[in-house]
Amino acid sequence: MTCSTVNPRATAPINSILRSGLLLSVLSAVISVHAEEGAFYNAVQPGGNIIAMPDKLSTAMAAKKVALQPANFIWLESLDLSKGRFTLRPFAVGNSAIGKPITMGGKVYAHGVGSYSRSVLTVDLKGVATQFLATVGIDDSHPYSGSVTFEIWLDGRKVADSGLIESLQPVKVFSVDLTGGHQMLLRVENGGDFSNNDCGNWADAKIVISPGAREKPQTVDAPSLGLEPKAMVGLELEPLPAIAPVDNSSVPAIHGPRITGATPGHPFLYLIPATGAGPLKYSAEDLPAGLKLDEQTGIISGVLEKDGRWVAQLKASGPQGVARRKLVIVGDRHKLALTPPMGWNSWYVWGGDRVTEQKIREAADWMVKQGLAVRGYQYVNIDDGWDCPPGRREKDGHISTGELFQLKTSMKALGDYIHAKGLKFGIYSSPGPTTCGNYEGSYQHELQDARTWAEWGVDFFKSDLCGYLSVDSGSTVEARKKAVTVFREAIDQCGRDMVYTFGGWGDTWEWGREVGLNCWRIAGDINPKWSDVRRVALCQRGTEQQAGPGHWNDPDFLQVGPSWFSQDMPTFLTGNEQLFHMTHWCMSAAPLILSCNLAKLEPFTLALISNDEVIEVDQDPLGIQGRPVTLLGDLEVMSRPLFDGTQAVALFNWGEKPAQIEVRWADLRLAGPHPVRDLWLRKDLGVFDGSFKATVARHGTVMLKVGKPGESEFAP
Ligand code: GLA
Repeated sequence: MTCSTVNPRATAPINSILRSGLLLSVLSAVISVHAEEGAFYNAVQPGGNIIAMPDKLSTAMAAKKVALQPANFIWLESLDLSKGRFTLRPFAVGNSAIGKPITMGGKVYAHGVGSYSRSVLTVDLKGVATQFLATVGIDDSHPYSGSVTFEIWLDGRKVADSGLIESLQPVKVFSVDLTGGHQMLLRVENGGDFSNNDCGNWADAKIVISPGAREKPQTVDAPSLGLEPKAMVGLELEPLPAIAPVDNSSVPAIHGPRITGATPGHPFLYLIPATGAGPLKYSAEDLPAGLKLDEQTGIISGVLEKDGRWVAQLKASGPQGVARRKLVIVGDRHKLALTPPMGWNSWYVWGGDRVTEQKIREAADWMVKQGLAVRGYQYVNIDDGWDCPPGRREKDGHISTGELFQLKTSMKALGDYIHAKGLKFGIYSSPGPTTCGNYEGSYQHELQDARTWAEWGVDFFKSDLCGYLSVDSGSTVEARKKAVTVFREAIDQCGRDMVYTFGGWGDTWEWGREVGLNCWRIAGDINPKWSDVRRVALCQRGTEQQAGPGHWNDPDFLQVGPSWFSQDMPTFLTGNEQLFHMTHWCMSAAPLILSCNLAKLEPFTLALISNDEVIEVDQDPLGIQGRPVTLLGDLEVMSRPLFDGTQAVALFNWGEKPAQIEVRWADLRLAGPHPVRDLWLRKDLGVFDGSFKATVARHGTVMLKVGKPGESEFAP
C-alpha cells in the first residue's frame, strides 16, 4: 500500500494521458489490436449466418472450421438476463453496465451484455449449441484501474479464461466449442482486487446453434453443473443498506459547523444552514462588531473589527417552531477551516476540458436546490481547466481564463453570484509553471495571481504540485516546504481569507501544519471503486495526530453520485461501500467535498450526504480525528471523541462476508450503562451495559453515538 501522493501518484499516468489528449493515441493502439482480432467477427454478419471465414485464423480456430459452416446463432442479449446472479446492478442488454453503448478501444459494439464484475450467467444449451463467441474487456467508460477476468465453464469444467484484463487494455476474443455441452456458465470476476463493480463487457456475444435445432438455449436460475458452490458466494444482488431518508421535518433546525473563524479586516461570510418549513426568519444575538445578519436569507456578512472569540446565539423561526444554536466566531489570523471544509469541486465531474462558468453557476444553484447548502456544504470550487494554456498570460502577466472555460460574464461576477447565495468560491493552481492538467501555473506570479483571485472573491485555494516538478524535484523537505510557503505568503498579502489546501508530496501531513496549510492530501487520486476507498482510507491510519481545527488530512473527494469526467457515470461503490466511505471520511474529520453532478442525485445519495447527525461528527468542533480502537482481522472499531462528551463509534467490516462486530465499553474507556444511537438510522437503540454488537455487511459499517451529551461551550 502506498500513501504517497507524489511520483508516482496512483493514477497520475492515466490522469495525464486523459488530460493531454494522449488518450486518443493509446486508444488507437487498442483499436489496432481490435481490428486484427475483429477480422473473425466481421465474418459473422448480422442476420444470423456465419458466412465466411477470414484468412487469418488461429490454429485453434482453423481446427474448428468444420463447425463454422453456415449456422444460426442467437445473441446473448436476447436471452432472459434476469436469471443471472450479480452483485451490484443487473446485466445491461446491449449496453455496458452503466447503461451506455458498449465501447472498448474506441469501438462501439452494437450487441452484447454489460456486466459489473462479479456476475454469473448460466445457460441451458439444450444440447443444440456448437459455439460461443464473444469479445471481452473493460468498457472505455471505466478507464481508471478497473480489473476483471472472464471465464467460460462448460458442464463443470472451465474451458476458457481471459486472464486479468485491466482498464485500457486490449480486448480479448473467445471462440469456444460447445458441441455436446449442456450447461454453459459465463462468469465475470473482480480481478482479485475486491472491487466488484468494474464494467466488463461480453460484446458481440453469441451462441451458435446447430442447423435444424428445434430448441433454443435459455438461461436458468443457478448453475446445477459447474462452479463449485464457494464461487457463487456473495453473488446475489446486494440491497442498498437501510438508512434514514433525508430529514424533511417541518420543525426548524440549525446545522453546520459550530465554530467558524476569519481574519479581522477581511470579508466575512457565513450562511446559517437551517432547515424546516418556511419562510424562516433568522436572528442572532451577540454577533461581534462589524458583522450583520440578513434576517431573510440567514447570511451573516461584514468585516470583523478585531481579534476575539464570540459566542453568537443563532435563531431560525418558522411557522412550525424555533431552532436555536450557538456559533463560536473566532477573529484572528489563520483561523480558517476550524472544521473540515464541506462543498463541491468540479474535477471528477467535469474534468479540465468541460468545466464552464455556466456549470459552476449551476453547481451553486443545485447546492441550494438539493438542500445541501442548508446542511453545511458551502464551497463551490473550480478545479483545473479554468485558466489559459501555458505561457498565454496577458502582457502584464495577469492570469486570464482559457478558451475552454467559457466565461460569459467575468470571474468577479461568478464569485458574486456564488456569494449572493451565502456560498463560497474556490479556485485551483500550481506553484509550478503548469498545472497537473497542463494549464498555466502560478510560478513566479504567485502574489500577482493571489491578488487577482482576491479581486474575484476567491475564498478557497487548491494548490497542486505536478507542474512544479520541472522547477524542483522536491528531494528535500525544505524544497517541498518552499513550494507551499510561496503561496502561503502570497495569500497572506492579498487582503482576503482563503482556505489553503494542497495536493502532492506524500509526507505533507508531517509538516503541512507548520507551513500554514489548512488541508493536505494523504494519498493519490481516488477512483469511485472499493479498492480505492480502501486504499485511501487505510492511509488515514497513522496521520491522526496531525488533524485538528484549521489543519486536516484530506483523503480526496467523495466518490458518490453520478460523475466521472462528464459521463454521469454512477459510482462503482455498492450501497454498503458508499456508507463505509462516507462514515470513514466523517470519522476521520476529512473535508467533505462532493465531485458529482449535483443536478442528478438519487434519493440514496442524497440521504447519504445530507444526514445531519453523520455530518455533525465530521464537523465536530474539537476536531479530533477518529482512531481504530480494536482491529481484529477485517473487523475494526473506530472511535472519535465529540465536543459534548459522547463518542462517535464506527464498526467497519473491511471483509468479504457479513460479520458481527462488538465494541466493548472498556475499549472506549467507558464503564457501566450507556445510551447508543444509530446515526445512519437516526434512531436510539437503547441503553447498553458493557458493550454493543451488531452484524455488519460486507464492506459495510454501523455508525453510532455512545454516551449521554453534556454541557459545553458549543451547546446547547
Ligand atoms: C491532480 C489532483 C486532482 C485534480 C487534478 C487536476 O490529479 O490530484 O485532484 O486537481 O490534478 O489536473
